Amino acid sequence: MNKNFYITTPIFYPTGTPHIGTAYNVFIADTLARYYRQKLGKENVFFITGTDEHGANVAKKALDEGITPQAYVDGYADLYKRIWSSLNISNDYFTRTTHPEHEKFIQELIQKSYDNGDLYEGEYSGWYCESCEAYYKEEDLVDGKCPNHPTKTPLFTKEKNYYFKLSKYRDWLLDYLKENEQFVRPQKWYNYIVGLVEAGLNDIPVTRANVKWGVPVPWDTEQTIYVWYDALPNYLSVLNFDEFKPQDYYNKFWLAAHHLVGKDILRFHAILWPAMLKSAGYPLPEQVIVHGFFTVDGQKIGKSNNNAIDPVELAAKYTLDGVRYALLSEFQLGNDGDFNFARLEIKYNSDLANNFGNLLNRVIHLANKKELKFSDLEVEGDYGLKVNEFVNAYHQHFENLEIFEAIQVINNLCTWGNQYVNDTKPWEAGSDARTILGNLNHLLKVVIELFVPVIPDSAEKARVALDGQQTIILFPKIETEK
Ligand code: MSP
Repeated sequence: MNKNFYITTPIFYPTGTPHIGTAYNVFIADTLARYYRQKLGKENVFFITGTDEHGANVAKKALDEGITPQAYVDGYADLYKRIWSSLNISNDYFTRTTHPEHEKFIQELIQKSYDNGDLYEGEYSGWYCESCEAYYKEEDLVDGKCPNHPTKTPLFTKEKNYYFKLSKYRDWLLDYLKENEQFVRPQKWYNYIVGLVEAGLNDIPVTRANVKWGVPVPWDTEQTIYVWYDALPNYLSVLNFDEFKPQDYYNKFWLAAHHLVGKDILRFHAILWPAMLKSAGYPLPEQVIVHGFFTVDGQKIGKSNNNAIDPVELAAKYTLDGVRYALLSEFQLGNDGDFNFARLEIKYNSDLANNFGNLLNRVIHLANKKELKFSDLEVEGDYGLKVNEFVNAYHQHFENLEIFEAIQVINNLCTWGNQYVNDTKPWEAGSDARTILGNLNHLLKVVIELFVPVIPDSAEKARVALDGQQTIILFPKIETEK
């Protein structure tokens, strides 16, 4: 296991505000960052998010608002920073593709590939969707619309640009994937990528002729660098920024990089990006981690469905950790899932309020009633060993990126703890309250520790409550509709 851990989220287009789908991605990244900070030490973890600020679509939005693209992206970058911070996201850095050091980096990167013959001049003629910033063939379109944006008609585009020789890297990439099964996780997404690469790779245009809001191609300044060729290197450029050079972040973190991405942008990360790196002489990141999509009440999240639920508003009602918990514990990583309020409320009440919250208060209350101080109590050897079985299972799951399953283990531990209270009845006169509460105090300490990456705020409050033997309502119960 690498002694460092570098986790990245996709950099978001500054064309919409975060909704629960995008927050889901950032919550997973934040949970992994917090898990590894506990495990490896804070200084050995680097967690970044940011904004993807160039391209035709952004320029168009700025024009619609009557401001310059720079003013437009500055506003959005601030907005994203504010929202992630209000959602208690612990990113170590917020990166932007308009950062001058990033712009310089990608010019050098594309120049390297040009110099070694991996770019050639050509003419593109086909369809381009500005919302995905991606090229499509006629047969990819669905009733003339973009396959990812059913309300958008891609533009027919005919322009001179430079093509990247992606096809040249097909055999190399296939060999690399065969030797590195862990490169794409979970397994079904690895299989999907292997299938795509096996089917063959086409060269793709990586510069744009008529997009002014972009970074100029160094040897042909009529052209700008294609947004994906600009965006993917954000993960690497940041490590070379002046502010991280003294700590040698490139050598410390690059080989420990984990890119967390939604399934829609997997092929960019697991096919184009490795080929770009290989072409420019860089080693590959450690892993691409893929998550599925959230729908809301069965519907795709989007403006047309008017269902882009704001995570900040949701947090005002269900607590920040309540929302985070509901999203993280909804389905297994890599699968799609659906969000609805009724399920959020049930889960919040049953897992957080009734299971964990209730156990914490029961134990503190009982100890106070019996006038026992936790600091004087001990855990029995056998009991400690039983608790350890849960702890081991939890770590095993985290290491396999099974956050959903790891959370279930914590829940099972709380259920087991509540059952132990029911069975041993420490409130009864003849019971051995001292031993029982010593065991339960240990169990709770462990539960809180395991909960830190998942519900960090509440875990901290619970720790303070347990230490000070003060009961606390961490999760006020929600009245659900009958
Ligand atoms: N700018 C590119 C990423 C470049 S990374 C080098 C981009 N941006 S995005 O803002 O459109 O999307 C960012 C992420 O949000 C993607 O990983 C996408 O999969 C994710 N999601 C968008 N809607 C989502 C859901 N409904 N559910 C889960 N994830 C969602 O793509």
